[in-house]
Amino acid sequence: MSRTPIIAANWKMNQTPSETATFLEKFVGFFDGKTAVDIVIAPPFVSIPKASEFIGQSEAVDLSAQNMSPEPSGAFTGEISAAMLNELGCDYVILGHSERRTLFGEDDAFINRKVRAACEAGLKPILCIGETLEERDAGRIEEVLKTQLEGSLADVTAEQMADIVIAYEPVWAIGTGRTATPEQAQEAHAYVRSVLAGKYGEEVANGVRIQYGGSAKPANAGELISQPDIDGFLVGGASLDPDSFHEIVKAGVAEAQGNS
Ligand code: 13P
Repeated sequence: MSRTPIIAANWKMNQTPSETATFLEKFVGFFDGKTAVDIVIAPPFVSIPKASEFIGQSEAVDLSAQNMSPEPSGAFTGEISAAMLNELGCDYVILGHSERRTLFGEDDAFINRKVRAACEAGLKPILCIGETLEERDAGRIEEVLKTQLEGSLADVTAEQMADIVIAYEPVWAIGTGRTATPEQAQEAHAYVRSVLAGKYGEEVANGVRIQYGGSAKPANAGELISQPDIDGFLVGGASLDPDSFHEIVKAGVAEAQGNS
């Protein structure tokens, strides 16, 4: 089955509203209508309205948040709800990023509540999973990925799964300049797909897009995305520059066109 590649920029805590405008003015101008891939930009919350001004008029680019609360509203100081993201025109929301897991103590049960809340609100989750170096060295990759998938996807239906993107981001590759080899990434992606097949059946699993994240850049994007189970990227550092992110998008478009 051919899946539409999805190339997403996770800006993390970078790009103020004015920097967002500067980036998007240039970036959106690269595209004349829809491309062969889905392109997603995830700015910080405060830059989403500015991003929406540009992305709202672009057929090529979709908008994502980097996080959200599982709660619909109420006394949750500092939190942002799915309804708020919907109103700003977000299509996607990144959930369970390893920085949220490690620095902010999010566990699979909490991430699961967010995944279900996002699906119920019509937002498409980009669910992040991945092992640490210690876990990899201990031969625990499959166990870790399976636990994260099962915990984060508890009570998620097959219909909802069709709208969820998985981002495999080995923690040791994030922001380190050390990318997983295409073989390492492919092996992990194929395993993720096999876990999804066990839970939802082959047809659903074959439709789910699995992104790679962790020091993805123009120099390694082509080789990674040519692997059979790698369906795109979640890009941190290399997405902060419009030209460099565009190069990664181009690798996705070349792959999609080669497959069609
Ligand atoms: P880098 O591309 O900077 O390694 O970050 C990856 C990431 O965490 C994307 O979510």
